[in-house]
Amino acid sequence: MNKSEKFWDGASKNYDKTEERFEYIHSRSRENTSKLLKGGDIVLDYGCGTGTAACQFSSLVKEIHAIDISSKMIEIAKEKAAAGKIENVNFEQSDIFDSKYSAQSYDVILAFNMLHTVASPQDVIERISELLKPEGLFISVTPCLGQKMSFLVNLQIQLVRFLCKFGLIPIPIRRITSSEVNKLLETGGFQAVESEEIYKDASSYFVAAKKLKKHNK
Ligand SMILES: C[S@@+](CC[C@H](N)C(=O)[O-])C[C@H]1O[C@@H](n2cnc3c(N)ncnc32)[C@H](O)[C@@H]1O
Repeated sequence: MNKSEKFWDGASKNYDKTEERFEYIHSRSRENTSKLLKGGDIVLDYGCGTGTAACQFSSLVKEIHAIDISSKMIEIAKEKAAAGKIENVNFEQSDIFDSKYSAQSYDVILAFNMLHTVASPQDVIERISELLKPEGLFISVTPCLGQKMSFLVNLQIQLVRFLCKFGLIPIPIRRITSSEVNKLLETGGFQAVESEEIYKDASSYFVAAKKLKKHNK
């Protein structure tokens, strides 16, 4: 088990509880996403966590492959799906770079609260582009820790970054901004079709971007 997996396993038990304070951001992001999903869509939820979003979207699409590196997050997600009798979501402990995923197989890929913590956002966006069908939709929600936040959230982030610096939190926590997310998308061959800066104690950037048919790297 790598350090990142171990960290997220440890965070899984209290994850839903700790995210309650950002419920406005989560529900606004899910509301925006729901309007963009279609009945025939095959969706990949990358870094699905405890599966709240995948379970909520299940009735709107054909099927969802929801993946996360943390087996404990996946356990909780599976319990939620079973409790809701949801059958078209397949939760699996996996990474998006696994070679079992085929190119151009998804209509929509979600990455909620992911891009600020991955080793290389560029590599992730490139992989997402590879897995999406032509003109497929990439929907991301990214905490913009390089932007406005309340005093208390700022204090919490400073502590987290201090723990990161000394190796006590083994994942990168980037101070990303919405402009940087837009630049990553543009460089990766996507065109934003809808976006919203959501703020409630912390800034979060919702963006839906279409994979361009032709992209010159
Ligand atoms: C901040 S949580 C977000 C969870 C969920 N998407 C949400 O919005 O609540 C980040 C999640 O990404 C997962 N994760 C981190 N790196 C990953 C990777 N390389 N592949 C798959 N999942 C990953 C973690 O285990 C964790 O559940």
